[in-house]
Amino acid sequence: MVGTMMDLESSPLERGNPRARSMEEYRALYRQSLAEPERFWSEQARTLSWFHPPYSILDVDLEEVDFSWYMGGRLNASFNCVDRHAAVKPGKPALVWAKNEPGEYKVYTFRELKHHVGRVANVLKAHGVRKGDRVCLYMPMIPETVFAMLACARIGAVHSVVFAGFSAEALRERILDAGSEVLVTANEAPRGPKKVALKAIADAAIEGLSQVRSVLVARRTDAEVPMRPGRDHWLDEEMGKHRSTCPITWVASEDPLFVLYTSGSTGKPKGVMHTTAGYLVYAAMTHAHVFDAQPDDVHFCTADIGWITGHSYVVYGPLANGVTTVLLESTPNYPDAGRLWEIVDDLKAATVYTAPTALRALIAAGDEVLSRSIRASLRVLGSAGEPISPEVWQWFNDKVGSGRAAVVDTWWQTETGGVMITPLPGVTPCKPGSATLPFYGVDLALLDDEGRVIDGGDVNGNLCVTRPWPGQTRTLYGNHRRFRETYFNRFPSFYFTGDGCRRDEDGYYWITGRVDDVLNVSGHRLGTAEVESALSRHDVVAESAVVGFPHPIKGTGIFAYVVLRPDVHVESKEQLIGALKEQVRHMIGPIATPDRIHMVPGLPKTRSGKIMRRILRGIAAGEREGFGDTSTLAEPTIVEAIIDRVASQE
Ligand code: PRX
Repeated sequence: MVGTMMDLESSPLERGNPRARSMEEYRALYRQSLAEPERFWSEQARTLSWFHPPYSILDVDLEEVDFSWYMGGRLNASFNCVDRHAAVKPGKPALVWAKNEPGEYKVYTFRELKHHVGRVANVLKAHGVRKGDRVCLYMPMIPETVFAMLACARIGAVHSVVFAGFSAEALRERILDAGSEVLVTANEAPRGPKKVALKAIADAAIEGLSQVRSVLVARRTDAEVPMRPGRDHWLDEEMGKHRSTCPITWVASEDPLFVLYTSGSTGKPKGVMHTTAGYLVYAAMTHAHVFDAQPDDVHFCTADIGWITGHSYVVYGPLANGVTTVLLESTPNYPDAGRLWEIVDDLKAATVYTAPTALRALIAAGDEVLSRSIRASLRVLGSAGEPISPEVWQWFNDKVGSGRAAVVDTWWQTETGGVMITPLPGVTPCKPGSATLPFYGVDLALLDDEGRVIDGGDVNGNLCVTRPWPGQTRTLYGNHRRFRETYFNRFPSFYFTGDGCRRDEDGYYWITGRVDDVLNVSGHRLGTAEVESALSRHDVVAESAVVGFPHPIKGTGIFAYVVLRPDVHVESKEQLIGALKEQVRHMIGPIATPDRIHMVPGLPKTRSGKIMRRILRGIAAGEREGFGDTSTLAEPTIVEAIIDRVASQE
């Protein structure tokens, strides 16, 4: 029986399914999670506090591709992350803000967090935000971002956080798609040695857009920014007008909690929608088990809140569990590569959760900085977002953790809400480079291209999930048909992840990378189609094709082949390449800037006009021959011509 909100006294970490302490216990609980899912997920729901418990655990309608968890339940994510902890441990640190400059911290207790969240929630209400409304947050890594997310949740509004590295165009597209009428941003954002002019970008994004009625501006620095009367308001001044008490809006389990845009292989970014109960149960459970979270831990996830890792493991997971969470404003290498470890020592962090791309950059800076910290508080070191190579895994384990902390390589996606494949620290024997075994309730299958399930070990296939889990995306905002087509059409009745994967003879999973046209650049997802469409918006471009290539720090770099219009006369190639890069920065943001742009006479296309990306990927990776059968190309000689051009521009 799922508990109600009366269970405030015991820590959420003491409830739910027990933690495995051995592989036997993991296997037994994993088996139970698949054999008796209702019992398993009902037990797990006891970690949340419910205004009204659910009457059912899972409803599935495969034809509609509709999954509903915990129907009949009423709850609130903000209550679960804030109020219930403030009620029993008001003085406990909830949020530690590690500011951009080293050594500068600001701590917010659960009581303070509750007050700030309540005030911001009252501000949102005063600006007309009602249950179900989408509020866009274009925010840096500052406490107000967490307040605003939880404030939305408190009143049943749906936040749509847009990563602060996205351009005005990208922000505008997301505001329009979600129909957001209120935008929360900051005047500017220090990030490492730079300052990002967020308000100016936000202004450009909503220029001429009457849809946005109110812009609330957090004051991060002293910088004055133009404020449009009637539309723009300083958040601190607005907060000063309101009391801190804001009554909770109890929502239904399947009411949306947030929308988060991510890239797909085609078309516009997709508004991945997560709902309240299932997402929160899953984020909290994975945080507890994957990091073996203890009540007095300081949990340090370096991810930006603009991505799913920030949502689930900076905000919702740890806070639902009542665990102190760190919000990092700077980059991991500001002012130098010792920054993360200095924070670990200063705050006695038990965990560090980061991305391989950050680790590669830190390794490149050398190990001397490690001697400035002792990192003795660390128990678990987590990695996510892209494959971690065995060398980087070993460095994390040996150098950062001194062999004392468990490394967990966690595989998951924006769509999965939380970790899906992971070792359990101190329990699962690791093989560096493998995310190891599925989490509880996660039933995986590898399918061949014809859709047949491939059994056994030492096999390769398309990674799919065979049954629903609570953290699963329910739909794409405003486009359920696209949701079905994107994830459930390729292999009917399976959720298709878009990743290729190998399963070894011990049943361990090794992600081999995306099998679709999505790139993973520095752990960020980008659709090649998005970059191509940005390039095509430049007058000189007739067509383009974008592929990934191996990059030492980013993992995958962006390689663009551009065909110019026949009438274009190029005076300076450098200038043109600069202009094209600027075009991409303008349309998407700096993260999408191509590392290499090559002007080519044409693209390798089949007679039916399909671009043979396999060949372009090969050339980008430095291959000059061995492209297999090119006889289906409309113009086979184009391959040589492209190779010549690329070679001459190197
Ligand atoms: O290709 C996989 C890769 O990142 C993709 C998901 O990206 P995103 O939606 O931004 O979610 C990030 C949440 C961590 C996946 O389809 N990926 C993620 N984790 C790993 C990974 N590839 C290999 N190993 C991982 N641990």
